[in-house]
Amino acid sequence: MGRYLITGGCGFVGSNLAKTLLDEGEEVVLFDNLSRAGTEKNLKWLQDEHAGKFKFIEADIRDFTALKASMDGGYDAVYHTAGQVAVTTSVVDPREDFEINALGTFNVLEAVRQAACDPVLIFTSTNKVYGGMEDVEVIEAGGRYTYKDLPQGADESRPLDFHSPYGCSKGTADQYVRDYARIYDMKTVVFRMSCQYGIRQFGNEDQGWVVHFVIAAHFGKSINIYGDGKQVRDMLFIEDLVRAFRLATENIAVTQGQVFNIGGGPKNVMSLLELVAHMEEVTGKTIDLKFGDWRPGDQPVFITNVSKAQKVFGWAPSISKYDGVRKLYEWVAANEGLFDHVQK
Ligand SMILES: NC(=O)c1ccc[n+]([C@@H]2O[C@H](COP(=O)([O-])OP(=O)(O)OC[C@H]3O[C@@H](n4cnc5c(N)ncnc54)[C@H](O)[C@@H]3O)[C@@H](O)[C@H]2O)c1
Repeated sequence: MGRYLITGGCGFVGSNLAKTLLDEGEEVVLFDNLSRAGTEKNLKWLQDEHAGKFKFIEADIRDFTALKASMDGGYDAVYHTAGQVAVTTSVVDPREDFEINALGTFNVLEAVRQAACDPVLIFTSTNKVYGGMEDVEVIEAGGRYTYKDLPQGADESRPLDFHSPYGCSKGTADQYVRDYARIYDMKTVVFRMSCQYGIRQFGNEDQGWVVHFVIAAHFGKSINIYGDGKQVRDMLFIEDLVRAFRLATENIAVTQGQVFNIGGGPKNVMSLLELVAHMEEVTGKTIDLKFGDWRPGDQPVFITNVSKAQKVFGWAPSISKYDGVRKLYEWVAANEGLFDHVQK
């Protein structure tokens, strides 16, 4: 049995990680300031499923003293998922974004470095650290954008080119996490994640577009499309992401100090308009679309090359985009009460 700290443990990724670990009988501590809408619902879900089986610390990663105190008892792994997650919000308040993502991650690193234990530390970075990838030719084919010459997607050798305050703050954290493995021999791993989706995700139009579209489709709400809707993302279902955390932890001998692109890969790609069309088919309802300008930092295409993760620690996506979207839709339909705010 192991002991795990999950920062952002009441968020989408964190609560799914917590649920899996608790189901497996592991000891779990959640550290979250409950700032994201929906986090109380995720905390309640975990309490209903595993009452009294985990510890919850309501605190902020900007508070170094609280983080240091949370290290008591030691951990086998720390999964750092807490963060300011939206590019749009980072543009409105870049200081807060910096303090949470850059300084907050630095606080997590320092708390772990100064602790007596020597846990694995996995950080949830983003594909946004690769910026606009202007050197990669994008073409339009079959009504969507795609790379002209990268059939397997973008790998970890892409140059870093932080774009938007969110890209800069996550990129800063990404490099610190990686460097702490080199300088302090800490067991750190960086996951550069593209679009992740799944149950317990309370996405909105600023972040979490797949679940936002699925919720809108189910409740008959209109969707704002920024740009022409032909922009493309690869999509990874949450169960596959949780498996990646587990495998990267088990294989720390080879994952330590490494950076991995984690996403659904070229087989699990959809454009915004394709997901809209798919949800119209699933629900049998027409979705009202409103078009607006492209948003800053929005890549026309991002497709993850997942071959490094496969080669180094034997992980690959296993849930297809259609199966994942179906599971997500079934969860939304079965839990309408969680979405009162959408129905108003
Ligand atoms: N979901 C994706 O598609 C995706 C893609 C790339 C990277 N990421 C990164 O993965 C991580 C998890 O994303 P998510 O989708 O679960 O987001 P989420 O918003 O559901 O979860 C983030 C959690 O962090 C908490 N939090 C925010 N600021 C905090 C602070 N200052 N102190 C303590 N807790 C704080 C929130 O309350 C929330 O529970 C984030 O760091 C995000 O940047 C996510």
